[in-house]
Amino acid sequence: MSVIDCDVLVIGSGAAGLTVALQLAPAVKVAVLSKSDLSEGSTYYAQGGIAAVLDTTDSTEFHIADTLIAGDGLCDPSVVRFVVENAREAIERLIGYGVEFTRSEAADGKLAYHLTREGGHSRRRIIHAADATGRAVETTLEEQIRKTDNVSLFEHHLAIDLLREKGADGLPGRCVGAYALDRRSGAVVLFRARAVVLASGGASKVYLYSSNPDACTGDGIAMAWRAGCRVANLEFMQFHPTCLYHPSAKSFLISEAVRGEGGRLLLPSGERFMPRFDSRGELAPRDVVARAIDHEMKRLGVECVYLDISHQPADFIVSHFPTIHAKCLELGIDITKDPIPVVPAAHYTCGGVMIGREGRTDVPGLYAVGEVAFTGLHGANRMASNSLLECLVYGAAAATDILHLLPGLAPPPDLPSWDESWVTDSEDEVVVAHNWDELRRFMWDYVGIVRSNKRLDRAARRVDMLRSEIAEYYGHFRVTNDLLELRNLALVAELIIRSARARRESRGLHFTIDYPRSDRVAAPQNTILVPEGFRQLSID
Ligand code: FAD
Ligand code: SIN
Repeated sequence: MSVIDCDVLVIGSGAAGLTVALQLAPAVKVAVLSKSDLSEGSTYYAQGGIAAVLDTTDSTEFHIADTLIAGDGLCDPSVVRFVVENAREAIERLIGYGVEFTRSEAADGKLAYHLTREGGHSRRRIIHAADATGRAVETTLEEQIRKTDNVSLFEHHLAIDLLREKGADGLPGRCVGAYALDRRSGAVVLFRARAVVLASGGASKVYLYSSNPDACTGDGIAMAWRAGCRVANLEFMQFHPTCLYHPSAKSFLISEAVRGEGGRLLLPSGERFMPRFDSRGELAPRDVVARAIDHEMKRLGVECVYLDISHQPADFIVSHFPTIHAKCLELGIDITKDPIPVVPAAHYTCGGVMIGREGRTDVPGLYAVGEVAFTGLHGANRMASNSLLECLVYGAAAATDILHLLPGLAPPPDLPSWDESWVTDSEDEVVVAHNWDELRRFMWDYVGIVRSNKRLDRAARRVDMLRSEIAEYYGHFRVTNDLLELRNLALVAELIIRSARARRESRGLHFTIDYPRSDRVAAPQNTILVPEGFRQLSID
């Protein structure tokens, strides 16, 4: 079995993972794993931009207040302040790496960074690279990491499980590495490290319809849970209101910035409906807009609604939204003239692995940053464009902590090889394919935008059955990419359902017809799930 030794193993190569890796290397030896090509993750597909206070008419207090309102009582105000106050530095670091954000002429004739607006933001504060901000960020970070010494990149390596050494008391101790499947050769590789960072993104692929790329199967959340980490607020899965509805468009988002620049949501009849639901209209927070669309689609029995920006000048549309314009045109929709058919789709995992201010999890030596983590920033509903920011700020904080602690961490001990002696090649791949579909479909139908006790009960029964089938399969057959992802998705689905059943109120993204109102309490609580059989340390 191949064994790779490094100081820090970073699992994931999006904005979070590459931020950590760039700040650690070349001072320490870093190995970065990505499931497929290095750039393939949500970061690459981000459109709208990154929220930061960069305009004199804005202030950190406004950004904090907007984030708290969107989060519906569940944000941790000190975390919100920490992230917002570190935003400018994070943006300056990206500019220093070479990210070219869009500029426009200011009132005084000088060129300044153009700031757009999105739902929930009371000011223009989203810095962006046209409508492909993620591509600009990810490709620039990739360029930087490829020329940084002391970094080894392992593309097409899928981390299977984390490894903990035995503690002095016999209980699981520090995290010292991971097994990973080399997807090209099918071999399992052992990575040994003095510290491990999970930066593996979110879990929106647990739903049938999602804006996310294929990588987002919640592997990090599942691995962390199996290793003994608490997870929090997994009931708050965010549905983006406007994904392109077209048979040939897989997971293509129509950025909220389209609404920020005046886009109106229309029914098939042409009626503008958002003002009936919220005085902020199309710029209400995402949970409100997604629920309104879901409600209208169900009420009228229609397959989609429409987003119309055609009242803006054509050159404005093309220069602000070149990617969306080109993609839609490819499919026969000219957004300078036609409304865009849209539907909501699963988009962002607000909950995740619990971490403290330095990115530490419950397991010593294990960090989590980016969408995989729960920091307390987003509360019950993430405000648009706050998540790339969170990746950048927490990525830097984790790297600083690791550099500080690493000299005191011993090299990892010898670790057991991956044992395949009792498994054979799978004889019935259709089981895996079937269970993938079944899981994602019942999550969409029963644990989606509108929930109920009955639907959640049904989902709980089904996920139990699927998990036992998957466990049996896992115990008998050689691991494959699809089986590993399915095993993780099913576990994350169970954690989402458990969290949703535990919340007996509607708040933010969690809406249930059985408890349609929020509890009127001064301090609403996070939903924290604790894995059995582990000792949790303080994460602060
Ligand atoms: P990702 O960028 O998703 O990267 C995850 C990495 O982990 C990948 O490299 C993947 O290969 C790797 N990985 C996963 N599992 C494993 C495993 N088992 N083994 C090895 N590697 C693994 N947010 C904003 O703030 N602004 C926006 O404008 C915006 N627009 C968005 C548009 C779209 C279409 C989407 C999908 C999301 C958008 N978001 C936006 C959300 C934001 O992009 C993500 O939250 C953020 O990019 C997550 O970054 P990350 O580094 O945590 O994970
Ligand atoms: C978008 O461009 O609408 C996505 C923004 C986000 O998810 O933060």
